[in-house]
Order: sequence, then C-alpha cells, then structure tokens
Amino acid sequence: MSEVPVLKSGGPTDEKVLAGLIGRAPVFKSIVTSLPMLASSEGAVLITGETGTGKELVARAIHSLSERASHPFVAVNCGAFVETLLESELFGHERGAFTDAHARRHGLVAQAAGGTMLLYEVDTLMPRAQVALLRVLQEGYFRPLGAGAEQHSDVRYLAATNAPLDRMVQAGSFRADLFYRLCVFSVGVPPLRERVEDILPLAGHFLEKHVSSPGPAPGLSAAAAEALLAYDWPGNVRELESAMVRALPAARGGTVEPEDLGLPGIPGRRAPRLLPEASPTYKIQKRRVVEAFEQQYLRRLMSEHRGNVSRAARAAGKERRDLGKLLKRHGLDPRRFTA
Ligand SMILES: Nc1ncnc2c1ncn2[C@@H]1O[C@H](COP(=O)(O)OP(=O)(O)OP(=O)(O)O)[C@@H](O)[C@H]1O
Ligand SMILES: [Mg+2]
Repeated sequence: MSEVPVLKSGGPTDEKVLAGLIGRAPVFKSIVTSLPMLASSEGAVLITGETGTGKELVARAIHSLSERASHPFVAVNCGAFVETLLESELFGHERGAFTDAHARRHGLVAQAAGGTMLLYEVDTLMPRAQVALLRVLQEGYFRPLGAGAEQHSDVRYLAATNAPLDRMVQAGSFRADLFYRLCVFSVGVPPLRERVEDILPLAGHFLEKHVSSPGPAPGLSAAAAEALLAYDWPGNVRELESAMVRALPAARGGTVEPEDLGLPGIPGRRAPRLLPEASPTYKIQKRRVVEAFEQQYLRRLMSEHRGNVSRAARAAGKERRDLGKLLKRHGLDPRRFTA
C-alpha cells in the first residue's frame, strides 16, 4: 500500500455493504461478522464453496470494506483462458511478444494496482501460471510477456474455488507453496441447503430486487414457502434468484404459488435438475421442519388476528416484540393479513 493510507471515498458505506449480504443462519452470520477483520488485513483469502453460494459477493464485500475500496476490484476467471493467454491477460505483454501482440498491453495485475484481485476457479491454473502467480503473490513482482524487466504492482489477492484445493495439493496437481500463499485466511461458504434459515429471506430479497412494476413486491404463498424450504438447491443462491425471476411474471403483484417457481418435482415450467437429493443430515432436516412449522404457524396466527400483532402475540403467549422480530425474520409483513 502507499505510505499515506488511502481514505475510502465515494463508495458505499460499510453498513450498506454488509446489508447487501442477506442471511440469518448462524454460519452465514459468522462469515459476515468476520469480513471487517478480513478487510483490514493484506493477507490472501481463499474463498471456497459450491457454485452460486456467494463467493464473489463475499470477495467484493472484503474489497469494499477495505482501505483499497476506492481502487479497482478486478475479477479474473482463471479457467477462461489457455495458459499463455492467461499470463498475458494477467501480466500484460510487450509489442511482438507473440503473433497477435500488435501493441504493448498492460495486464490485469497492473490495472488492479492499489486495489484487489479475485482469482476465481483458481484450481484450474496450469503449472506455469501457478509459478508466475506465486512470485507476484510473494513479492508483488511480475514480468509481462516479452518484457526484459519485471514490474511491481501493489495488489491484494483473493481466490475462489469450488474444488477441494487441499486434496489437489495432496494429489500433486496444485502447488503446495501457492496453496499456502493463497489461504492465509480461508472462508468456506456453505451450500444453501445447509443454511435453510437463509432461503426465505433471500427469496424475499430477490422478489423485491427483480419486481418491475411499481408497488409492493409479491409475497410467497404458504405452499410456495414450503416448497422453497423443501428443495435442496444444487445451484444454491443463484438458482434461488433464477426461481424468483421466473416466478415474478406469473405472480403479477399478487402471490407466488408453488407452480410459479418452476422447481423440479413441482408441476409447472420446470428447471432442469442437476443432482438427485442425497439424504440430508438430521440437523438440516430438523431445521427444515422447524422453519416450515414457524412459517405455517405465523401465517395462520396472523390471519386469525387480521394482522394485529398485539392480539396475535397475546394469543400465542409471546411478547409483542418477540413476535414482531419472528415475523420480520420470516419476511411476513403484518399488513398483508389485515384483509
Ligand atoms: N447472501 C447473499 N445475499 C444476497 N445475494 C446473494 C447472496 N449470496 C449470493 N447472492 C447472489 O447470488 C448470485 C450468485 O453469487 P456469486 O456470484 O457470488 O456466487 P459464486 O459462489 O461466486 O458462484 P460461482 O462459483 O458459480 O462463480 C449473485 O447474483 C449474488 O449477488
Ligand atoms: Mg462467482
């Protein structure tokens, strides 16, 4: 970093960054809580998790919360280039370095100066690129293709993968030295099916995010909420977001029903199913049932009391404030029940 600390300016506030990370499962909350600490360090962070779990979102949050926030955030898909192209993409090249190099070009490492680089699908790096990356991670130096001299760029590195990198190290397909450089810190983002409590808040968030007509976003019917909780989400949060986008036109300002979701196993326009559901653990299955019970209970309670939280709380034997919190957690707006 430069000697004078770079003051964050212009970007979203830290509160706003953290508020964009939706989820209330304890595992997810502990990730969110760790982000400011990760942001204050210069060590590399290895972010692991299945596809669509939110690895890139976590990486962007670390950048936005850091003193590098006003500098570039550059994400590179390591799997998208053949070996030499990746190197020229990362490190740049001199004119004439290879057949198509008609002009000198700065690479992404130079463009990311002062900022953060996310290397995703880092498991796909070929051996030569692994060596080159190790050097830049260790010392900040790199050599553009065809260049005589090395260059320096001050970049913080984050990496993401959905492959078991530690096992790849054991098997000899990923360099151990690079692995240890990349995982100074590590964050494992669990699949959505292991954080059932996040499903409905995320669903509500995406309905609001993608609703096109003015006015309130549609809500989920009790049956739709149950269907979302029962599904195992092989595509994780990304798949949930797609399901909400799919449901919106059919819901038209009203209520999303199970058949609008297009989930495998539910009649309607189905999305392709990737993996058969393995038997979930006891703990996960229990949380699903509890979550579904709370949804049903709260909906019935609120309908019976026509959205009157005080009366509903009395009937349920709960403090008004606690019931209010519970409703909020479940994304249930009492005003929906006044009719
Ligand atoms: N907790 C969350 N709150 C809000 N949005 C989320 C959350 N998690 C994921 N998303 C959204 O879901 C989508 C997928 O997330 P992201 O791209 O970060 O996944 P990923 O783990 O990088 O996936 P891949 O491995 O396939 O690249 C994005 O649109 C992201 O904004
Ligand atoms: Mg991603």
